[in-house]
Amino acid sequence: MTGGSRGLGYAMAEGLHEAGAEVALIASNENNLKKAAEKLGAQGAKAHYVAADLGQAEALEDVYEKALELLGGRLDILVNGAGVQYRCKAENFPKDRWQAVLDINLNAVFTLSQLAGRTMLAQGSGKIINVASMTSFFGSEMIPAYAASKGGVMQLTKALSNEWAARGVNVNAIAPGYMATELTGDMKEKNPGQYEEITNRIPAHRWGKPEDLKGTVIFLASRASDYVSGAIIPVDGGYLGK
Ligand SMILES: NC(=O)c1ccc[n+]([C@@H]2O[C@H](COP(=O)([O-])OP(=O)(O)OC[C@H]3O[C@@H](n4cnc5c(N)ncnc54)[C@H](O)[C@@H]3O)[C@@H](O)[C@H]2O)c1
Repeated sequence: MTGGSRGLGYAMAEGLHEAGAEVALIASNENNLKKAAEKLGAQGAKAHYVAADLGQAEALEDVYEKALELLGGRLDILVNGAGVQYRCKAENFPKDRWQAVLDINLNAVFTLSQLAGRTMLAQGSGKIINVASMTSFFGSEMIPAYAASKGGVMQLTKALSNEWAARGVNVNAIAPGYMATELTGDMKEKNPGQYEEITNRIPAHRWGKPEDLKGTVIFLASRASDYVSGAIIPVDGGYLGK
């Protein structure tokens, strides 16, 4: 589980633990990771962690091997949950930020899926769950790198599914709507007009909570979804339907 130290990733890890999974959390901040693993551990989970910067392409194989070893050499579920966002007008968007967002949100997702795919294909089974976004479907504004990366995650999900579904490996994505986490937390203060506009547009008339993803991630990780592959499932309070 990448991005498992906080926010949506932590809630998804908690959901999978509640359904009986042993988890390995991968994220950037060691302190947060330790706390998250301890919190899960206190609830009875077998929870491990590996601190790593997923933007460092050359480190990914090592990170994957460490996590796999902690899990005893078998991997049934990979959740690619880590992600970053950088807001800036497109005409001023810095190249280094573009690269960093694409490296973390898309390139690391491919490399970790490829590594997990090899393990799962050899096992004959596995579930890869990517975290897409509403911006997989539309471009939004001020977040061109994020939108490009999440559009890429959606297409990558389908491309991997096409190659691996017949060999027992399901690849799907969850597309969260507007969720209240640290990633989005400053909008309420910094741009209250936009925050209210979004809230009014959500049919459920509230922002999502991290726990709202638990049911979908458990479904996609379980045998109940064995015939679901290449799907992008919105968990968005109805936002896309409006
Ligand atoms: N919050 C939302 O409204 C929303 C909506 C749609 C999609 N998402 C996606 O859901 C995922 C989780 O978002 P969140 O809101 O919980 O964000 P968050 O900022 O609360 O958590 C992000 C997680 O990613 C990890 N991470 C970030 N950069 C990393 C790096 N370089 N190396 C390793 N780990 C790194 C962090 O350690 C953290 O665990 C992201 O992929 C995000 O794009 C969020």
